[in-house]
Amino acid sequence: MVSILGISAFYHDAAACLVVDGEIIAAAQEERFTRVKHDHNFPLQAARYCLSEAGITAEELNYVGFYDKPLLKFDRLLETYLDYAPSGFSSFLKALPLWMKEKLWMPDLIRTELGKAGGETDERAAKKLGKKFEWKLLFGDHHESHAASAFYPSPFEEAAILTIDGVGEWATSSIGIGKGNEITLLKELRFPDSLGLLYSAFTYYTGFRVNSGEYKVMGLAPYGEPKYVSVIKEKLLEIRDDGSLKMNHEYFSYSQGLRMTNGAFDKLFRGAPRKPESLITQKEMDLARSIQLITEEVMLKMTQFAHKETGMKKLCMAGGVALNCVANGRVLREVPFEDIWIQPAAGDAGGALGIALAIWHRYLGNTRLSPEQAGTWQSARPVAMFTSNPAQNNGRKNDRSDGERKDLTAYADGMKGSYLGPRHSEEEIERFLQSRQLPFKKYTREALPVVVADLLATGKIIGLHQGRMEFGPRALGGRSIIGDPRSPEMQSAMNLKIKYRESFRPFAPSVLREQVAEWFELDADSPYMLLVADVAAAQRRKMTAAEEALWGIDKLNIRRSEIPAVTHVDYSARIQTVRRETNPLYWEIIEAFRQKTGCPVVVNTSFNVRGEPIVCTPEDSYRCFMRTEMDFLVLETCVLDKKEQPLFTEKTDWKAEFRPD
Ligand SMILES: [Fe+2]
Repeated sequence: MVSILGISAFYHDAAACLVVDGEIIAAAQEERFTRVKHDHNFPLQAARYCLSEAGITAEELNYVGFYDKPLLKFDRLLETYLDYAPSGFSSFLKALPLWMKEKLWMPDLIRTELGKAGGETDERAAKKLGKKFEWKLLFGDHHESHAASAFYPSPFEEAAILTIDGVGEWATSSIGIGKGNEITLLKELRFPDSLGLLYSAFTYYTGFRVNSGEYKVMGLAPYGEPKYVSVIKEKLLEIRDDGSLKMNHEYFSYSQGLRMTNGAFDKLFRGAPRKPESLITQKEMDLARSIQLITEEVMLKMTQFAHKETGMKKLCMAGGVALNCVANGRVLREVPFEDIWIQPAAGDAGGALGIALAIWHRYLGNTRLSPEQAGTWQSARPVAMFTSNPAQNNGRKNDRSDGERKDLTAYADGMKGSYLGPRHSEEEIERFLQSRQLPFKKYTREALPVVVADLLATGKIIGLHQGRMEFGPRALGGRSIIGDPRSPEMQSAMNLKIKYRESFRPFAPSVLREQVAEWFELDADSPYMLLVADVAAAQRRKMTAAEEALWGIDKLNIRRSEIPAVTHVDYSARIQTVRRETNPLYWEIIEAFRQKTGCPVVVNTSFNVRGEPIVCTPEDSYRCFMRTEMDFLVLETCVLDKKEQPLFTEKTDWKAEFRPD
């Protein structure tokens, strides 16, 4: 047995992943345990969790992989700062101590931290234990880690690989080929020319947080006009036919300063960056639309180039920009790849998974199973879903008695539906509820889907905590808040009463895979909510002229389709397709809702409030349930009614606990 622990840390989104004999056993982000969003510190708790999932100790590991090469990154920083000295000198001085203290001493640090994961609490004892470990420590290249996370778990035997993010060591995008167990990177685009950093510069300028607010810019775009596309192309960058871009660094300051943009940028767009939390104006919406269109253009050109260069029929992607699901939807529709697959943990957290798989396949030379052999470890089928509840109907084939359902071909990638985090057993949950004397009703596993569907159909908003926690930024029915998408009020109710966030942001639908094509202009798997497509014409409702003239949230509140809560103002939706074999309980809840209402769609948003990491434990879920106006909480088969709960008081104001994202 070969056990490999992959780690990403010290930039943002620290994570750990355990691969045993080529199978991804567990993966989780540190933020879920520490409750600090985007926690970048060493993923001690995530590593501990991964080891416990496999029942092994830190000592028993054979390899530990770190997702990038700290010395190369240091080299880039040093060179960049010297290039721009003296203006970059102050941020260099700020960055230096951190590099000296943590990053350059990485091997020692990793050993010491895993000494702690091995049970030592005292720093010196942990260090001593760490030194004794006999596993081999390997460092991967940042973009190779992303590429490995994109290709190895994909359902493809061979594929083109495209990674796009802000920056790793030097590369900001790369194109390669994956074949069997080999990955060859062919081309790379280098810092400081970077699509990720360009998008982040506009995220910063429109008043959102860099490295986390990018998807808000994407959500804001449909409200704007592409007014600034020409000025961006004229002044800020040159986009070549092959998707490479040359940026004009007179307008950006990320190379030499701590800000993304500078005075010249402000002058070009007539004003300082929007202050976070201040009013969003038409200008921000127009900027969002413009940069989104530029991003789509670059991504289409990059993927077209990758198609031509590699001659491959399939494409897989990773890197933070691969989370731009609007652009991904266009790639699927407009670029002649037969199929695309995107790593759900596309950001740096996924680097932990990439390096672990790269060690197994590239370093150790182990073959990759073909999709036909997938039933053993690649599948997201019953193996991933073992529960302590014998009633849980894993592995059961779809009931085909209903003539409407399509006969689906099997879908198997190596991610197990991305349900790679902790699961809490029925016993643990009941123990928790009883210890706190919290009233709940317990249902059988068979009865539960109908109970939940009935609640949904009467407009109740439900916190759903079941199965293993998701790896990656999206909740996929394991730690989700769900509601009825047919209700015109659901969107604003969920935004304002539950998530406490800007009301312009749309929610995503989870739809039965069998019925996706009837409700959306998509007939493919989108298991990780990474593709955007329009609501099907048949489900749309034509707006009156007066309704068309409305703007912003007023327009969002108009019933634009049969499922208004998940229909954006431009009729688009960020779709998650659900298969029974991957998440049986979630599928059965939506199916029961369909049988009751005719609608195979529910609203799915992550189980957290604004600025809070997605919940992990039953305790996190209960706390979030009580802090918000959710109506019911489902913890596996235990159902809690808000009305029956004892008064919930906290000593401190929880809203001050989380920094808005
Ligand atoms: Fe990255």
